[in-house]
Amino acid sequence: MGVPLKVGVLISGRGSNLQALIDACEAPGFPAAIVLVISNVAQAAGLTRAEKAGIPSAVIEHGRFATREAFDASLDAALREKGVDLVCLAGFMRVLSEGFIAAWAGKIINIHPSLLPSFRGLRTHERAIETGERLHGCTVHFVTPELDAGPIILQARVPVRPNDDAAILAARVLKAEHRCYPLALRLIAEGRVHVESGRVRIDDDARPAIEALDVDSIRDAQ
Ligand code: GRF
Repeated sequence: MGVPLKVGVLISGRGSNLQALIDACEAPGFPAAIVLVISNVAQAAGLTRAEKAGIPSAVIEHGRFATREAFDASLDAALREKGVDLVCLAGFMRVLSEGFIAAWAGKIINIHPSLLPSFRGLRTHERAIETGERLHGCTVHFVTPELDAGPIILQARVPVRPNDDAAILAARVLKAEHRCYPLALRLIAEGRVHVESGRVRIDDDARPAIEALDVDSIRDAQ
């Protein structure tokens, strides 16, 4: 076993994806460890999750900074101070500056609650229902300056059922998110994820884990 990949997680709220990553990292032999959680919101429930897990956390409130760049510089300094190798955005509700994203290129990932490139931005579940989608889901992707548009690492699909409302659908997608994000983190930490010509290639030996994620999400989703 090599040294675990050092992960910094940025949150703004509930932190259920953070919890999924915490739980994954606690499994013996998991190749990554969360060394820092940063929230831009002081009351974020996710901060309690970090505290319970004994993970250092910081509150960096964007409102205290004159510019987006100054806020991002503060994030950057905190992450570097902990020796972070990979940044995971987990419900982090701030747009990051191009400079920050460039500085972390290839080392910053996000989870988005839709099957990208469908439904970038907000209200993804409402929009999936409005357009009559039969399948919806989540995407883990590398972060690039264009919002919700970086190279796709993993996706998990769930069905959209006839009587779904946005809350029911969101809950179904969230279950898929909690499986997808830890798997993406594990594959990156194991060095199985490669970006080639702007697209992600994942080593063949990871295929069973990836296929299981998708099939189970569709068949088992309540
Ligand atoms: C998730 O749906 C995630 O995909 C999106 O924001 C939500 C965050 O939820 N980016 P949580 O804070 O992880 O519970």
